[in-house]
Amino acid sequence: MEANKTQTAHLIALENQYGAHNYHPLPVVLDKGKGVFVWDVEGKKYYDFLSAYSAVNQGHCHPKITATLIEQAQKLSLTSRAFYNSSLGEYEKFITQYFGYDKVLPMNSGAEAVETAIKIARKWGYEKKGVSENNAKIIVCEHNFHGRTVNIISFSSDSDSKNNFGPFNPGYVTIPYNNTQALEKALEDTHVVGFLVEPIQGEAGVIVPDEGYLKTSYELCKKNNVLFMADEIQTGLSRTGRLLACDWEHVHPDILILGKALSGGVYPVSAVLANNDIMLCIKPGQHGSTYGGNPLAARVAIAALEVLRDEKLSERAEYLGAIFRSELKKIKNPLIKAIRGKGLLNAIEIFENPEKQAWDICLLLAEKGLLAKPTHGNIIRLAPPLVITEEQIKECARIITEVVENF
Ligand SMILES: Cc1ncc(COP(=O)(O)O)c(C=O)c1O
Repeated sequence: MEANKTQTAHLIALENQYGAHNYHPLPVVLDKGKGVFVWDVEGKKYYDFLSAYSAVNQGHCHPKITATLIEQAQKLSLTSRAFYNSSLGEYEKFITQYFGYDKVLPMNSGAEAVETAIKIARKWGYEKKGVSENNAKIIVCEHNFHGRTVNIISFSSDSDSKNNFGPFNPGYVTIPYNNTQALEKALEDTHVVGFLVEPIQGEAGVIVPDEGYLKTSYELCKKNNVLFMADEIQTGLSRTGRLLACDWEHVHPDILILGKALSGGVYPVSAVLANNDIMLCIKPGQHGSTYGGNPLAARVAIAALEVLRDEKLSERAEYLGAIFRSELKKIKNPLIKAIRGKGLLNAIEIFENPEKQAWDICLLLAEKGLLAKPTHGNIIRLAPPLVITEEQIKECARIITEVVENF
């Protein structure tokens, strides 16, 4: 046991010494994963309640997805888009039919997909809407999280993300989230080409907007000839109890942005979907990525989407999420400010208290075999893989209740 603790300390020290300090991880060193569980190098087993920020919706090392990865990796992994490949077309047909769009533009990380969506919206704005050169604007929401590139942080409201990374890019208008009056006002500006929104703000602390917010926002965008751009990188792919969080309000975004669970956590795969009138504004040479649309990503994404459908993970997330929230709402501790969420994307918010912080709760949860990570200081996001069983989610609710009630 002591030898194992030494190994944990050694591996943490390696990351600290040789890796950039751009994250502040919990002090566990993970070595293995299967379904809802991960194991650290000391052999301790944990429920994973982060799911790699909702990338592992299908569960760790899903057998179908990993088998697809191995099979394709042994056949053909990368060609670049200088040539056609025997997997991409099939994937493009599959994913566009799956989500109901004419076209897809494949990328790798979430941030790249957001950048892609912004470029597409601007191009559409100049070429279809007739906005004058270099004047396109995109409306975004306060406390958004869309990634870490210089352009994306240009419209972040998080000072940690921005501090000393300027100068920032123009072309964005920030309005409060969950506020359709503010949107209506901002849409009066005829230079606006798109409204970029998270259907639930995940990183901000699982902020669920009022019912009707997405629908009304979508309709306002339509009225003003503005593209409704949904960043479903975290909320999408069955996490909230629907395939897309926008499906809760029957909204079909003009531009749909996907990432994370599009590969079930085995490979970086992201995508932007739109119909021809929007997507065909992009011509050869105007956008791309060496790895975007590679055969490995294409096959893995098909498998990952099939798993969501075949294992009915949306239905499961809706059903288990309701049970989980009703259990959490029974927790008695005056420190709790709110319990909220949708499907299996949930959060516990605790009152600000310098002595008692969400981080400390997460350390105690880890001791009890459940891994979660605070987001924005006093909020603990709870997002297990969607393959969790009813018995397991109830056991996890008991672990959380015990830790929080004794905190
Ligand atoms: C809503 C949303 N958009 C974009 C991103 C960025 O994705 P990536 O980290 O793959 O660049 C994230 C990541 O957490 C996210 O939650």
